[in-house]
Amino acid sequence: MSARSLKVTLTRRLPDAVETRMREMFDARLNLTDRPMTREELAQAMATSDVLVPTITDRIDADLIAGAPDTLKMIANFGAGTEHVDVAAAQARGILVTNTPGVLTEDTADLAMTLILAVSRRALEGAEALRAGRFEGWTPTWMMGRKLWGKRLGVVGMGRIGQALARRARAFGIQVHYHNRKPLSPLIEEELGATYWDDLDAMLPRMDLISLNCPATPETHHILSAERLSRLQPHAIVINTARGELIDEAALARALKENRLGGAGLDVFEHEPAVHPDLLHDPRAVLLPHLGSATVESRQDMGDRVILNVMTFANGHRPPDRVLPAG
Ligand code: 8YV
Repeated sequence: MSARSLKVTLTRRLPDAVETRMREMFDARLNLTDRPMTREELAQAMATSDVLVPTITDRIDADLIAGAPDTLKMIANFGAGTEHVDVAAAQARGILVTNTPGVLTEDTADLAMTLILAVSRRALEGAEALRAGRFEGWTPTWMMGRKLWGKRLGVVGMGRIGQALARRARAFGIQVHYHNRKPLSPLIEEELGATYWDDLDAMLPRMDLISLNCPATPETHHILSAERLSRLQPHAIVINTARGELIDEAALARALKENRLGGAGLDVFEHEPAVHPDLLHDPRAVLLPHLGSATVESRQDMGDRVILNVMTFANGHRPPDRVLPAG
């Protein structure tokens, strides 16, 4: 089949340049309303497309995949994480799944660093106090945060984003520690000055900052459980730019409320877009609306990556960003 006649359905609005290019290259169907599709609309899109381009706001489960006709050949996700797609069910039906890794690494690491800085130095709290007219001039003891230089950061999940964050942290004089399924190569470990912990429970109580940078899988669900949160030092700060499901959010809110934690910087939430109400009112929680890859450049690059994957598939080759079932 020629690329021009390939029916490609986008479930959400993508940047203009990406949509226009898709219209030039494929028989692309756009969602100009940008309203997330209902389950019925998704089923309909899957029934009438060769390629579906979903995002994190679409849940493509085993039932939807089972109900799709054989004409659906590919799910080309706009985004790196693919936990919202049942990849094993797709593979069993011979449907290719691809994602957009690599292109959002630096931006997501920047956002993790933004949260580390904002929480440690109480930047939002200070800004809000000023706007509310509570700044009455400099005082020796008001609004004191915590120094970053010389502190220890424990990165949970040392993939591309974890390593990009480690590079930034090192430049801030922070000691990098990490927990990962496997240690990094000695060369990269040396470049990052990073210390490997195979036992997460042993690493947690020694860290000043914890950043979650692993994918959401059944194994990583609540990797920061209530029990693990209780191992952290009372001044420790938890950062999450990966997926909300990695943290027991209610337990995190409780730990903050009971002063068992120094702060939290979260860009993702367990029941997104809902946020635990106690977090919303906690001054030590800096909360962002899933902005990790939200730059003009990254969103364009993600779109280009989707186009490359679809085009490579249309040309009869294996797309570069094929996702296989975890494990
Ligand atoms: C994306 C993300 O914007 O790529 C990811 O995994 O978390 C986000 O930054 C989102 O997934 C779009 O589908």
